[in-house]
Amino acid sequence: MAVKATTIALLLAAGALAADVTSAPTFHKNVLPILQDHCQECHRPGEIGPFSMMSYQEVRPWAKSIRQAVVSKKMPPWHADDAHSAKMSNDRSLSKDEIDVLTAWADAGAPAGDPKDAPAPRRFPEGWNIGKPDVVLDLGTDFKVPAKGAVEYTLFLAHTNFTEDKWISAVEVRPSQRSVVHHIVVHVRPPGSTHWSYLKIGEPYPESIMPKETPVNRPPQSDRSVLTFTPNQDEWLAEYFPGSNGFVAPPGKAKLIPAGSDIIFQMHYTPNGKETVDRSTIGLVFAKEPPTERIFNVGLNNMSLRIPPGESHHRVDTNIVIPNDVTLARITPHMHLRGSGFGLEVTYPSGERESILEVPRFDFNWQMTYVLDKPKLLPKGTKVHMTAYYDNSPNNKYNPDPSKEIYWGEQSWDEMITGFFDMTIPLSADPSKVLPAPMRAAAPAQTAAR
Ligand code: HEC
Repeated sequence: MAVKATTIALLLAAGALAADVTSAPTFHKNVLPILQDHCQECHRPGEIGPFSMMSYQEVRPWAKSIRQAVVSKKMPPWHADDAHSAKMSNDRSLSKDEIDVLTAWADAGAPAGDPKDAPAPRRFPEGWNIGKPDVVLDLGTDFKVPAKGAVEYTLFLAHTNFTEDKWISAVEVRPSQRSVVHHIVVHVRPPGSTHWSYLKIGEPYPESIMPKETPVNRPPQSDRSVLTFTPNQDEWLAEYFPGSNGFVAPPGKAKLIPAGSDIIFQMHYTPNGKETVDRSTIGLVFAKEPPTERIFNVGLNNMSLRIPPGESHHRVDTNIVIPNDVTLARITPHMHLRGSGFGLEVTYPSGERESILEVPRFDFNWQMTYVLDKPKLLPKGTKVHMTAYYDNSPNNKYNPDPSKEIYWGEQSWDEMITGFFDMTIPLSADPSKVLPAPMRAAAPAQTAAR
């Protein structure tokens, strides 16, 4: 009898213990689904995350760092303040509940749980994220990235050889060596453009030997808040930054590459301690049917910026009025090493104001594109206010020289403020009339030697 009572007591105790353990989140049941949704895109073999998060064995040693990274919001990388931004479809930030699960799991000693509770593994496309491209173009030459030192922005030219206009429904820019590619911007240059006329196939052009087309590194002469839209000169087509997965247009929408256009790769390399050879590529998927709307890219710049030495919170405002109805779909804030904050706000013709994007901790190392979950119609007369903040103080650990006054320039030690915006308009509208007047500094008056 006594024996039996003890057994029952033990069984009860064991039951209570089991209940305790099952109430703590386990890897397989609670943690893995979060990692699949928010982390594995970068934390798996071949991607930029410094360790893989595919299995319990791989993740277990990192439990404490994961706790710290998610509580401090360092990971996953997402720098918008969601409370003051429109909903973004590529928002990868964690909810409070998800952060609580990861924290409770780490605090409970990172239990594995039952592998039978695990979700099916997430499948990632091998190679291209956008599906098989119809055309792949590359830099035209191997580029040797030195082991150390700074590499200037370098341009490369590729011919599309398109004999007819092409509608592009998906595009992806892929470094061949992710460890040395900081970011890439790819432009389309239509025939007849005089922009970058000195580029030749297979010949990398470092920025310092290029003829200057914009006032670089000298004090501004006048207010230069400009909306750059020069589709007859060039247009931003696509970008790569760590974690970017290519662009797939919504149904019925596409980007245009006119017949005979060229592709310009603007490469930003960062040496990683070992000489590395890169030959980045771009893949294009043609629209299966003609679109009803065209997506095109404009840049809103303020070339009159002037950042005093040592200033820790210098604000630059840029304002324009939208001259015709357009729909805003994607936003890429672009600043350099001193960039510390970004805001985009609109005032509709009705007087209503809306904050579209607020990036309180801009991070140069994460050039990110924010994709509006619901594109915003900006009717004619909408005022667009763009705000940028810079930290030119010694407290900014990326600051190359806090003692210098800083002006507009394309190198990362100079500064820029550009909001790159993907806009859509009906196919029947002419984009050069929708956003008229190329308001940038004139391209050099020389004939294209192509
Ligand atoms: C867009 C790519 C990307 C995503 C998504 C991502 N990471 Fe990372 N992660 C990185 C990169 C790159 C690094 C190394 C550089 C750095 O620390 O910024 C890193 C570093 C880390 C580190 C080491 C931090 C440190 O301080 O050394 C941890 C822990 C981490 N990530 C956890 C996570 C978790 C957890 C998630 C998902 C909730 C996640 N990451 C999502 C790219 C990513």
